[in-house]
Amino acid sequence: MSGRPQEDNPKVYRLPALPSSLIGREQELKSATALLDQGIRLLTLTGPPGVGKTRLALAVGAQIEDRFELGAVFVNLAPVRDPDLFEHVLIQALGIQRWKHFQPGERIARHLSQRSILLVLDNFEQITAAAPRLATLLASCPGAAVATTSREPLRLSGEREFPVQPLRCPDVTAGLQLDELAAIPAVRLFVERAKAIMPAFTLTKENARAVAEICVRLEGLPLAIELAAARIRALTPQSIVDRLGQRLDFLVSGSRDIPERQRTLRAAIVWSYDLLEVPERRLLSRLAVFAGGFALDAARAVAARGEDCLEAVSSLLAKSLLWQHEVDGEPRYEMLETIREYASEQLAVAGELDEIRDQHLEYFNRWARDTEPESEAKDHVAWVARVDREYENLKAALAWAVERSTMDRATRLAVLLCAYWNGRGNVGEGYRWLETVATRSEDVPLPARAEVVVHTAALARFKGDREHAAMFANESVELARQSGDRKMMARTLIELGHATDPFHHPLEARRSYEEALGLAAATQHPWYMGIAIQGLAIAACGERDFVRAARLFGAAEVVFEGVGESYAPNSVAEQTIMGRSLVAVLTGLGREAFGRAWAEGRGMRESLAVEYALGRTQLSEPKAPRGRDDDGAARSPLTRREHEIADLVAQGLSNREIAAALVISERTVDAHVQHILNKLGFHSRAQVAAWIAVSNQSAPAKP
Ligand SMILES: Nc1ncnc2c1ncn2[C@@H]1O[C@H](COP(=O)(O)OP(=O)(O)O)[C@@H](O)[C@H]1O
Ligand SMILES: [Mg+2]
Repeated sequence: MSGRPQEDNPKVYRLPALPSSLIGREQELKSATALLDQGIRLLTLTGPPGVGKTRLALAVGAQIEDRFELGAVFVNLAPVRDPDLFEHVLIQALGIQRWKHFQPGERIARHLSQRSILLVLDNFEQITAAAPRLATLLASCPGAAVATTSREPLRLSGEREFPVQPLRCPDVTAGLQLDELAAIPAVRLFVERAKAIMPAFTLTKENARAVAEICVRLEGLPLAIELAAARIRALTPQSIVDRLGQRLDFLVSGSRDIPERQRTLRAAIVWSYDLLEVPERRLLSRLAVFAGGFALDAARAVAARGEDCLEAVSSLLAKSLLWQHEVDGEPRYEMLETIREYASEQLAVAGELDEIRDQHLEYFNRWARDTEPESEAKDHVAWVARVDREYENLKAALAWAVERSTMDRATRLAVLLCAYWNGRGNVGEGYRWLETVATRSEDVPLPARAEVVVHTAALARFKGDREHAAMFANESVELARQSGDRKMMARTLIELGHATDPFHHPLEARRSYEEALGLAAATQHPWYMGIAIQGLAIAACGERDFVRAARLFGAAEVVFEGVGESYAPNSVAEQTIMGRSLVAVLTGLGREAFGRAWAEGRGMRESLAVEYALGRTQLSEPKAPRGRDDDGAARSPLTRREHEIADLVAQGLSNREIAAALVISERTVDAHVQHILNKLGFHSRAQVAAWIAVSNQSAPAKP
């Protein structure tokens, strides 16, 4: 879960609402808030699992989020195991949809751009190795403050550790008054949780001692107390003391390698687990297979063998073994990490781990298949959000598919995630996965195998790894030819053209694009047609036939418009080459001649465009004299403000988002964007993106 910008105020993040009120902690809340107010930028709440770190961090955040310009964002790091992903997880939590030209850290810094924000980073102990990256982030985002929870301090300079103690417990030896007892936080927590389950429950002279004893034996650990209180319907406080006592004695003597307080929590978890009915116990252990939570439908399919399990899930919820929150109006369930650890141990003990992982893989394999078509469709943003939610599950399924060597499944998941990694700019991680899958895919049937290989080639190219890009692209073409699937052949040949670097090796690249274009036209695939024509435009540019290049760029644009989309190059590599070519054409022709040739290209019928692109039809030379205007694109004609806006356009931001980012009105942005297009002689935002990629890199290459 994460705070997303609110609809009514797109700039401000909010922490998730809490399901129940905070008990005790008045002093802690005051001091922690004061520290952040005094300018401490990294506050680490430390303590053992279940002591209440997350709860306190959220309460602190809720109290002061209004004092930050951008509010506060909650980021749960529990499912993240790879410290390298730190910035990506943040980008995800900030809901930044696309970023193209910047390193992730830089992207975050730009998004926050000096404005103040509170980042609540939960469970940093999962990625302690990322601590130096957090330090870098804090240095580059002067407006950011961090409240984090961790079992251990991060040991960064400027960090302030804030140890979270268990809730205060009563002194059972002192004869306390009932009302005094009821005011002690540990007791209050027990009573409140018991009441939530059984409204008639109250603290009485008869049960007071037993309740006090439960709290003391559980050392005031909130999670343990909640687990105990959740049983109040079936057990009296006294019988909880008796049974829990046995469990504690057993565990405390039995496992000296677990730190003392974790032993207490462990005892409470084991105790709570043992009290479950057998089917519930089985369900809980199976649910541990999910990473990053699950929807009810997934629970039914994976853990309940297709049986309805709402009742059992509700019961686990009532027993505090699961917690629930809402995503887009649908309930989603999660397990606290400590409980999940125990539950997955139990799954292994039951000998069901492999089988349930298989089911999990099967479910997400199906999920991927049903979700796949959307990756090419219009609503990319919604699609990315859907994958976001199941990302940890999808990765777990992919890892298991690789481990199981069920490479057909691994292939499907990898291909689905490829579009996601690309959209999120997470190319390095994506390539690692794709390469693993592609190199082990010998037994995957065609054309699926060609598909995973071609995706691998693309990611290698986006990463700037030319050697592997060419290797995988060649392999994918061979596989596609073997399969006889003409669309796949077009797809792989396009990739081969890209991998060949059409700007510098136009002849070679042209051959691939031409064959691809023929196939795309024959199979009526306008999208591939457009890309192939665009590739040929770049090749023409590499051959310094600028008129032809400009015409082809124009023709490609019309083809894309026919698909109902404007083509946005989706990687820095792609933008760079597109941008470099456009700049070369502009510089070579001058703006006026460029505009004319472009318009000629746009005016071609599709069939003529294909004939022309394939070199089967010649067009007459343009009438106006060739040669360049002095205001060619070699120097940037944009003002500084326009450059700034063009940069954001290039990152894929809408005018509305740009307005929000620069704190100006949307109308002003509209006007600026129109100026930018006019000045550059461009027709689309994609062209601006391409152009920016080059101007940002260096002075444009002179043809
Ligand atoms: N002060 C408190 N008031 C109410 N509930 C609390 C309090 N502290 C902890 N809890 C509850 O106890 C459980 C464990 O707390 P949590 O913050 O998740 O611990 P940690 O993050 O240290 O593992 C949660 O269900 C939480 O809601
Ligand atoms: Mg926690």
